[in-house]
Amino acid sequence: MKSMDNIKNTNSKDETTASISANEAGAVVMAVKVDDLTVAYNYKPVLWDIDLEIPEGVLMAIVGPNGAGKSTLIKAILGILKPIAGSVSIYGKPYHKQRSHVAYVPQKGSVDWDFPTVALDVVMMGTYGSLGWIKRPGVKEKKAALEALEKVGMLPFKNRQISQLSGGQQQRIFLARALVQDASIYFMDEPFQGVDATTEIAIINILKELRKAGKTVVVVHHDLQTVPEYFDWVTFLNVKKIATGPVKDIFNDDNLTKTYGINYKVSVQK
Ligand SMILES: Nc1ncnc2c1ncn2[C@@H]1O[C@H](COP(=O)(O)OP(=O)(O)OP(=O)(O)O)[C@@H](O)[C@H]1O
Ligand SMILES: [Mg+2]
Repeated sequence: MKSMDNIKNTNSKDETTASISANEAGAVVMAVKVDDLTVAYNYKPVLWDIDLEIPEGVLMAIVGPNGAGKSTLIKAILGILKPIAGSVSIYGKPYHKQRSHVAYVPQKGSVDWDFPTVALDVVMMGTYGSLGWIKRPGVKEKKAALEALEKVGMLPFKNRQISQLSGGQQQRIFLARALVQDASIYFMDEPFQGVDATTEIAIINILKELRKAGKTVVVVHHDLQTVPEYFDWVTFLNVKKIATGPVKDIFNDDNLTKTYGINYKVSVQK
């Protein structure tokens, strides 16, 4: 993996385009590589023979209908689910060796918030990975957590029990927790689900900032209208991978129709 200094140097482009990195030989650096991945629940395959390469530095949407396997794909990449076939690598190594470089914001509703923890503590949990087993978060970690809370507009709620926040507010806390991880790759499963328009803009600005800093950001997204505005890379998924690549090249009616199974017309501007 490249050092952070390198990442910053090679990615000083404007914030609306992908800053795909190349190594010394000029080859594109792949942040994630998925090979022949098949995942099943109770012997029923829900992802079938997926090959996918995610170049470093993209802000990528995964789109597909409900039940297409989008969350399953992320969980399989993160080793939460064991595939029945295939493999995944993060910067050329298995996930368990790259854990500290990966941040994950799960889909809303998939986490039980019924434990007595305040927002600040939830965010500080994001720093645990870089601390090792023995050390506890200290002044530095607390400062980072407070900064992240500020960024997502949740500083006034830092001492609120997490279960006493609204769904959209909880989502922002999750985002703050991912931010303090200082990862190289961010996976976010529907971060805009159920948030208001202001929060959506705040979140997308943070995601674009991450891309500007050379991070790779993978987002499960349902609003097809905003794909060209928010993302530079897209993967169409429906049990199988339909297509993956730059939004400007592959975000078209043909791929939408193949993915959603209806005659789709995108009325969005590219
Ligand atoms: N724990 C589970 N046990 C059995 N089947 C499951 C389980 N989780 C998901 N599935 C099934 O696997 C398929 C893919 O589910 P997944 O959650 O990955 O879809 P998704 O694309 O994320 O959908 P959504 O847009 O609704 O979030 C679905 O048919 C779903 O019913
Ligand atoms: Mg899902």
